[in-house]
Amino acid sequence: MPLIDKDAPLLFFDSGIGGLSVLQAVRQSLPNAPIVYAADYAGLPYGTKCEAEIMARVPALLGRLVERYRPRLVTIACNTACTIALSHVRAALDVPVVGTVPAIKPAAESTRTGVIGLLGTAATIRQTYVDRLQTAHAAGMTLLRHAAPELVHAAEEKLRGETPDPSIFMRAMQGLTLLPDGDRLDVTALGCTHFPLVQDELSRACPRMRFVDGSAGIARRICHLTEGQDWPAQPSNGIFVTTGPLSDIENLRPALNSYGLTEIKSL
Ligand code: DGL
Repeated sequence: MPLIDKDAPLLFFDSGIGGLSVLQAVRQSLPNAPIVYAADYAGLPYGTKCEAEIMARVPALLGRLVERYRPRLVTIACNTACTIALSHVRAALDVPVVGTVPAIKPAAESTRTGVIGLLGTAATIRQTYVDRLQTAHAAGMTLLRHAAPELVHAAEEKLRGETPDPSIFMRAMQGLTLLPDGDRLDVTALGCTHFPLVQDELSRACPRMRFVDGSAGIARRICHLTEGQDWPAQPSNGIFVTTGPLSDIENLRPALNSYGLTEIKSL
């Protein structure tokens, strides 16, 4: 095994702040891990883009980020990017890459009715990757899928200290519960990393629903892949890097600080 520098960071990547839901889980397990969090604000939202655009954008950006920050491991904290481009990124990079894919397996394991939901971006819910997850983990069950792009913006607004319109959450949940068999739906996978950031609002819109997401599983996977590696003795300032204008990040600073991301840079 190659020797890993104790200061080599974990790199997280998303189109915006969604990956913070994953970072939070990882920080609990690895509090001293140096963190670089990259947000592709110049490309947000990913969920309305076509496959070719994501495929052209994500591996190239990650290549630049890996060259600049020399991470020990990359986490693509974005379901849209992973369900489309994960294998391409893995082929292009020479560091371990952890992906984030819709939590259909945990949803299928915890449903009592056999009807599970998936809230994701439009690009994610149409992927054959999701069909394969359904076949592998939810065979014989009903999987209801709904694209909720408004939730991406609602999560971005919330972390900027604004209050998103509550009708957004109602519409997202009704998009699932009003589908055929939706009355039997008891567990919904939050298949976009932005969505756990507004889980309280979704719960208020649909109190009977249980929600699952992949963040705890990803944290376990990262711990496993970095087992035995050295870390700094103390937590350090995390770096937030954006592909967009730095001026757009000003009102995100308090939220980023609360995740330990205190240095803001542009790519
Ligand atoms: N957070 C991303 C995901 O997990 C995508 C949000 C977007 O850019 O549309 O899918």
